[in-house]
Amino acid sequence: MPISEQPSGAKTTQKKVPSLAELEHTSWQQLASAPESEQDPFKFMTVATCTSKGADARMVVLRQVDAGRKYVWFHTDARSEKVIQLEAFPTATLLFWDNKKQLQLRLMVETRLHTDDYVADDQWRALWTGNRKLYLSELKPGTEQPTPYPGFPVHFGENLPTEQESEEGRKNFAVIECRVLSMEYLHLSRAGQTRAFFQYEPESKMVWLAP
Ligand SMILES: Cc1cc2nc3c(=O)[nH]c(=O)nc-3n(C[C@H](O)[C@H](O)[C@H](O)COP(=O)(O)O)c2cc1C
Repeated sequence: MPISEQPSGAKTTQKKVPSLAELEHTSWQQLASAPESEQDPFKFMTVATCTSKGADARMVVLRQVDAGRKYVWFHTDARSEKVIQLEAFPTATLLFWDNKKQLQLRLMVETRLHTDDYVADDQWRALWTGNRKLYLSELKPGTEQPTPYPGFPVHFGENLPTEQESEEGRKNFAVIECRVLSMEYLHLSRAGQTRAFFQYEPESKMVWLAP
């Protein structure tokens, strides 16, 4: 029905449909600001990896994003299972979910491990002692224990290590650099779902997908 013929009081709720380029831009903007935001659900992501037995997944903190070059970084213990898996199978999927916005992002990435180089040194230097404490574990993550173990020497309890004590964790610290090969966007809505695919490598491409 033409707008002029609509019953009085009826509202036209025609929303401007964002372009593929706009969706891609706003997604990367949210990713880029998430590491500095306590509230943004994109501050946490699920990292899905391949293993010789199948698949594995776990939550990690998104530490850094380069929206221009399409890189993201997270931190982990160099002795952890995920590092062993990523060394054998460097591709991974990073999964984000924003419940408020009803938005899922899936980033397909190629990972690179940094332990003894300037990348790891720089990120370690910027890490406060509360985070460094997590790398003081005397035990390889995932080893079986007769009793619960807090993940750092028990004498620290709730206290923070000194800057000097925290340096003991450097040898266990790893940065995982993720080069984003492609990103999939999915927005849920009663008015219709929006699904789009953005490829960066081997060549750039943007396309709508059927949800
Ligand atoms: C909210 C949340 C954030 C986490 N952040 C990290 C993180 O940034 N890095 C990390 O290695 N593990 C993090 N973990 C723990 C991992 O999920 C996982 O239990 C641990 O790294 C061992 O995983 P793996 O055996 O697959 O290596 C986090 C867990 C939760 C629940």
